[in-house]
Amino acid sequence: MIVLGVESSCDECSLAVVRNGREVLGQVIATQLEEHAPYQGVVPEIASRTHTRWIAGIYREVLRRAAVTPREIDAVAVTTRPGLIGSLVVGLSFAKGLAYGLGVPIVGVDHMLAHLYAPQLEEPVEYPFLGLLVSGGHTIIARADDPFTMHVLGTTIDDACGEAFDKVAKHYDLGYPGGVAVDRLARAGDPNAFRFPDSSLHKGEHRYDVSYSGLKTAVINQLEQFWDGESEKSDANIAASFQRAAIDMLLKRVLRAARDLGLHRVVVGGGVAANSYLRSVLAGHDELDVRFPPLELCTDNGAMIAGLGYHLITRGDRDGLDLDVSARVRGFRRSYP
Ligand code: KG4
Ligand code: ZN
Repeated sequence: MIVLGVESSCDECSLAVVRNGREVLGQVIATQLEEHAPYQGVVPEIASRTHTRWIAGIYREVLRRAAVTPREIDAVAVTTRPGLIGSLVVGLSFAKGLAYGLGVPIVGVDHMLAHLYAPQLEEPVEYPFLGLLVSGGHTIIARADDPFTMHVLGTTIDDACGEAFDKVAKHYDLGYPGGVAVDRLARAGDPNAFRFPDSSLHKGEHRYDVSYSGLKTAVINQLEQFWDGESEKSDANIAASFQRAAIDMLLKRVLRAARDLGLHRVVVGGGVAANSYLRSVLAGHDELDVRFPPLELCTDNGAMIAGLGYHLITRGDRDGLDLDVSARVRGFRRSYP
């Protein structure tokens, strides 16, 4: 079965043609990095308008790369949640038109579950496992029981992890995207020059949650307070110290969850999965079986949508043309007093 996957939840416009949920016949990932770079962050209105301009051309290109004709497409899978509403609507509208025109089924796909499915495109990963999804828009620690079910254990109570990297980089004018710039600069820095705190205020059901707003404020406005008094107050030292605090905070929760739940397999996804410090710390944990999909499958891509879409279709899921989008992560409502 050949499934066309459509992903447009944020600033990547990506379509992929995948056979039987595994074999990527062709994929196009068009990033809007340059469109948003002047603002050093994703501007939702620009994102949706750019998707509108690009998506039809990307569809033609992905068919060419996959060497399939429209008639060979058996189903269309499309991200419907979570994401930027305007951006999601563009992908969904395109997918609906296509499915209707071709007379094939359409199925809506949860973007977070698709991230957790992504490594399966490379090699089988046994369930259950712990998922760590970290990007500019999401920060989630979850238990995945099968391709269709995840239980969110922890999240950020404020900024996303990648967003904190982006904001710190923006403040110090380090470059865009911020995570890449901080990671690069941190290699020449001392991670102990500033000792930023981990605000572990969260007990009980919040024991796996993180908070980046306080760390961001500390790095941007209260640097002096956390200085060791000796090291240079250089960009490299700030980057290295911030990166260590941001990633350690996350990994502490992941290790805690792995221990509590008795899970040793961890699947990592999202743009922050590229972080070299995160990778090196996790690699040092021999007790864990950590899977990092290749970078193009870590960040937003159409292949993971088509891959999971295949399994939804084969188990009988179908959506109608009334299929709608949602900005929120499914089944996750937690209020903070
Ligand atoms: O998954 P992604 O490409 O897009 C969405 O956010 O949807 O993730 C982008 C995020 C940005 O916040 C970027 O700064 C961060 O991932 N990022 C990194 C690194 N590379 C990208 N953060 C830390 N270290 C990196 N090497
Ligand atoms: Zn994503």
